[in-house]
Amino acid sequence: MSRTELRPFTAADLAACATLLADRHRRHRVAQPLLSARFEDAAAALAELTTAYETPDASGAVAYRAGGPVGFVLGAPKPSPLWGPNIWVEAAGMATTDPEVMRDLYALAATRWVDEGRTAHYAVVPAHDAELVQAWFRLGFGQQHAHAIRPAARSATVTPAGLSVRRATRADIPLLAQLDLELPLHQGQSPTFSAGPMGTLEEAVAEWTADIDNPGYATFVAEADGQVIGSAIGCALEKSSAHLSLARPEHAGFLGFAAVLPHARGVGAGRALGTAVIDWAVSAGFDSVVTDWRVTNLLSSRAWPKLGFTDTFLRLHRLIRF
Ligand SMILES: CC(C)(COP(=O)(O)OP(=O)(O)OC[C@H]1O[C@@H](n2cnc3c(N)ncnc32)[C@H](O)[C@@H]1OP(=O)(O)O)[C@@H](O)C(=O)NCCC(=O)NCCS
Repeated sequence: MSRTELRPFTAADLAACATLLADRHRRHRVAQPLLSARFEDAAAALAELTTAYETPDASGAVAYRAGGPVGFVLGAPKPSPLWGPNIWVEAAGMATTDPEVMRDLYALAATRWVDEGRTAHYAVVPAHDAELVQAWFRLGFGQQHAHAIRPAARSATVTPAGLSVRRATRADIPLLAQLDLELPLHQGQSPTFSAGPMGTLEEAVAEWTADIDNPGYATFVAEADGQVIGSAIGCALEKSSAHLSLARPEHAGFLGFAAVLPHARGVGAGRALGTAVIDWAVSAGFDSVVTDWRVTNLLSSRAWPKLGFTDTFLRLHRLIRF
């Protein structure tokens, strides 16, 4: 095998690496055809890669063999303090013809990232590529999050007796606000230990009061014996700040939120709410439904795959401490 040459990623690498990215996406779509066909085109991949490259403080590495590119990695920091002193390799930020080379690419790129003080590393990796995921695992990364998709198609779910789902009304605001807090409350605990922000009940009530009639969101509540015990929200995927670039299929609905009060969990309300959002997405004309979850959230990581969601991208994470 010819020698692998590694060097920092520069603008001169964009076009060649866009071809690698388009090839990666073509392979990804064999496993996950609901992803957008658009990025199989090298010009569309180039536009995404250029955006990634032009993100402030972006940097990375590229690998060549016999004069041809065999891989790249490109990351950039997010300004939110939520992620720590971070670097993110997003959905357009890596491709290789040889997964083992990703370890060399990371080694070079991470030298600069850590020199710059960016020690919290996140990588959004195509889920179908087990060898690539393994390469990242053998760099000390673990899975933090899953992005997933399913077709927008009705399923024959039978809502358990005593349980019903309907669209939310203004009268539901106090319970909707309480349910908003259940997600950060749950994810603050073991084993998720999420550092996500925990708003107040008053803030949640104020947001719902301003937003309950927003036609861009379909809000559902589940009732057990006439009492609201859960809620879920559907919207167009474009409203999400995640699922960007190659991870954003066209005409996709989004299961953006769901929560069930602790005492009512595990008896089918989450399934009924998720199904209501999927059925809404079908009626609204979406082709697919996207969602995501923390894989350490024992509840959502079990509930959503049971509703037919399959992984598209895995977000991997490594925290470097000295
Ligand atoms: C996630 C959540 C909305 C799911 O609602 P729920 O009412 O608890 O879920 P359900 O009882 O409908 O269960 C949904 C599916 O998960 C499965 N499931 C639930 N608990 C499970 C467990 N311990 N092990 C394996 N599967 C489990 C159920 O069997 C069901 O699948 P099935 O219908 O094929 O049997 C709810 O648990 C919750 O509010 N969690 C805290 C907030 C949160 O995590 N929100 C999601 C944000 S991404």
